[in-house]
Amino acid sequence: MASENTSKTYRIAVVGGDGIGPEVIEQGLKVIDAAGVALETVDYALGGHRYLEDGTVLTDEILSEWRAFDAIYLGAVGTPAVPPGVIERGLLLKMRFELDLYVNLRPFKLEGSHDFVVIRENTEGTYAGEGGFMRKGTPHEIATQGSVNTRRGAERAIRYGFELATKRRNHLTLVHKTNVLTFSGDLWERAFNEVAAEYPGVTTAYNHVDAACIYFVQDPQRYDVVVTDNLFGDILTDLGGAVSGGIGLAASANLNPARTGPSMFEPVHGSAPDIAGQQKANPIAAIRSGAMMLDYLGEAEAASRITAACEACADMSGSTGEIGDAVADHL
Ligand code: IPM
Ligand code: MN
Repeated sequence: MASENTSKTYRIAVVGGDGIGPEVIEQGLKVIDAAGVALETVDYALGGHRYLEDGTVLTDEILSEWRAFDAIYLGAVGTPAVPPGVIERGLLLKMRFELDLYVNLRPFKLEGSHDFVVIRENTEGTYAGEGGFMRKGTPHEIATQGSVNTRRGAERAIRYGFELATKRRNHLTLVHKTNVLTFSGDLWERAFNEVAAEYPGVTTAYNHVDAACIYFVQDPQRYDVVVTDNLFGDILTDLGGAVSGGIGLAASANLNPARTGPSMFEPVHGSAPDIAGQQKANPIAAIRSGAMMLDYLGEAEAASRITAACEACADMSGSTGEIGDAVADHL
């Protein structure tokens, strides 16, 4: 049942993006409307298609416009006609870095009732862009791509993890690779242990990332909140999606927890150009990301109704629009 229980209208910058992005975002907006939350949306035509049109990726002007919005709702970006990295780095990563969206929150719900959350550090690591080529194109070519880890960056992600754990089941696992990455892993482990001392009520665990891959598949019940670096988190959260009903269900929030600007909400999946425009994409991940957006904006009741409706429709098959309608009908 839809209910008009909110008086506030939220201003949302919408980036449908490429491939299946616009189709799934359309369903997300439809469901939010059906839940009775009023949005004033402004569409931004950005992504690979826009880049091919006029070379625009993400201008500083657009970024500064976005700072005045309550949130950003994004479908997916990236298209095969544009070389890898142009849109991903120039749009998505620029947005994450410039708006300081340092927590990438990715919740997973397994068959039955177990759920866990991965906090992926979202502004550093191998994503930072450190590195370069030497002797490019020669037989002696060298490429390096360093991992940037600041104490402040690791600590704020870790601290978010402890805070979140206190609101859940009081358990936090650090995932890294301290046995090989003896510099960055050491920094993360020390930061983790020092912050842990401030949270005596939270029990902690540590897993190497390769072992965590086994546990994600064979024993995910051991997890409540997981905190990890950017690249490990990227990989682990695809696996998290795969073991919890498929990547078509996996939602995410890119948060600026200091709220010095808008946060961004997007499905974990990509633009899937092979099925774009065919109404074949599952919109549940985008709809759930919309619910995370409402939750973050203070609309917890509408958010939980949408999340529950998504769960009820998780196994449904149908077109993108049919699944969106089913979720809306279920509210
Ligand atoms: C994700 C995506 C992005 C990432 C890509 C599209 C740059 O895979 O949000 O997980 O690697 O962060
Ligand atoms: Mn990814």
